[in-house]
Amino acid sequence: MNKSLRKTVIAGNWKMNKTATEAAALIEQLIPAVEGADCEVVICTPYTSLVTAVEKTKGTNIHVGAENVHFEKSGAYTGEISADMLVDLGVEYVITGHSERRQYFAETDETVNKRTKAALEAGLKAIVCVGESLAQREQGVTEELVRMQTKIALQNVSAEEMSRVIIAYEPVWAIGTGRTATAEQAQEVCAAIRKLLVELYGETVAQATTIQYGGSMNAGNADELLGKADVDGGLIGGASLKAADFGTIVKAASK
Ligand code: 13P
Repeated sequence: MNKSLRKTVIAGNWKMNKTATEAAALIEQLIPAVEGADCEVVICTPYTSLVTAVEKTKGTNIHVGAENVHFEKSGAYTGEISADMLVDLGVEYVITGHSERRQYFAETDETVNKRTKAALEAGLKAIVCVGESLAQREQGVTEELVRMQTKIALQNVSAEEMSRVIIAYEPVWAIGTGRTATAEQAQEVCAAIRKLLVELYGETVAQATTIQYGGSMNAGNADELLGKADVDGGLIGGASLKAADFGTIVKAASK
């Protein structure tokens, strides 16, 4: 394992929080909090804040992402947003397959694959989320489940495209619950994902791919989680809405 072969990426997932006006204010605080970081810093905001986020972060080390994308290029899909629309705004990243979308919006492994493919084809970088529920962990199927989710999400994604893919391991039971996976649990599953990537793409691509942990990562536990060999960053919900906490996590990732 060699962490120097891949980028450490700390990404905020703002979820359905902050008006565009509030987003502008938070970004003003985030800019000094993450300045000079020795890792990639991303904020994924609601669609309505993307223009503000792209404008406000110009010339800074903060990159901007969306939280979802539709898989068709255009057409009669009322309320949806295409990858080209995001690219046109200057958006660089997009989250696909977040468990909240799987849980509340009927997202399936197949649609996650379609969204990931569409994002990559348009030139975006995709943060592909996978993770087990509490029941699945208790049933002892975490590794099989995460392998399956990852494998389906990456169907027909080329080795070349993998340079723009991040996998985020987010155990559903740890999201927004304050119940973080232990660093050992996070490492175990992130390592299993990397092993799958070796099978699918070979050692070079697997070692170059960033694998994040997400689920109640905060200023207090980031150091330990990020210290693990296969944990290459974090996807941060609640703590990404507090500039000081997000700054502390980014500092922990910069070590
Ligand atoms: P929390 O950090 O609020 O648990 O959310 C994690 C998450 O879902 C990030 O995508």
